[in-house]
Amino acid sequence: MKFFIDTADVAQIKKYAHLVDGVTTNPSLIAKSGRSFKEVVKEICEIVDGPISAEVVSLDASGMVKEARELAKIHKNIVIKIPLTDEGIKATKMLSKEGIKTNVTLCFSANQALIAAKADATYVSPFIGRLDDIDNNGMNLIAEIKDIYANYGYKTEIIVASIRSPAQVKQSALIGADIATIPPEVLGQMIKHPLTDIGLQKFLADWEKVPKK
Ligand code: E4P
Repeated sequence: MKFFIDTADVAQIKKYAHLVDGVTTNPSLIAKSGRSFKEVVKEICEIVDGPISAEVVSLDASGMVKEARELAKIHKNIVIKIPLTDEGIKATKMLSKEGIKTNVTLCFSANQALIAAKADATYVSPFIGRLDDIDNNGMNLIAEIKDIYANYGYKTEIIVASIRSPAQVKQSALIGADIATIPPEVLGQMIKHPLTDIGLQKFLADWEKVPKK
């Protein structure tokens, strides 16, 4: 399973770079960084050598494709994030034909994910946290997409997005999702265990009792 980090905060990306295989951003995360879009994306590409998602903001397919071509020039690892709308799917098909990688985002149903795969999207991003927020089961959606893609051998990779907890990462791995895009604070929680800290303290205390020559 691959881990992407879901942030445009360069300090956090540097902190967790050794744990991650890629980065996802979105317009809200870019705004939160307080920096210019292209500048921050370029810097992220220098930190992590893996797929870096940068999102388009046009609503029509030709505008999306135009933006995508410009973003793709920034770095070979740029993946174009495109909303799962009718126009977004048209743009995804065009970009796939040009060999530009796409991450079809804002996916909330299995049928939307099926459409993204049929458009040859490189990745699809189902937002599980936002589904849980409205009392739908986000993790069931991941299982459904996984089954549907397996039925037909679709190559589109599933990025579990809108993750809120370490438990959701574990469940994604049990289902066999290709990728989880994880907020930095959740990555931090995943690596920690109180018994690891207690065990280490005890080992170090006992080590002090070992005669040193
Ligand atoms: C995914 O690519 C999105 O950037 C992200 O996971 C959205 O998460 P949120 O629902 O916490 O905003």
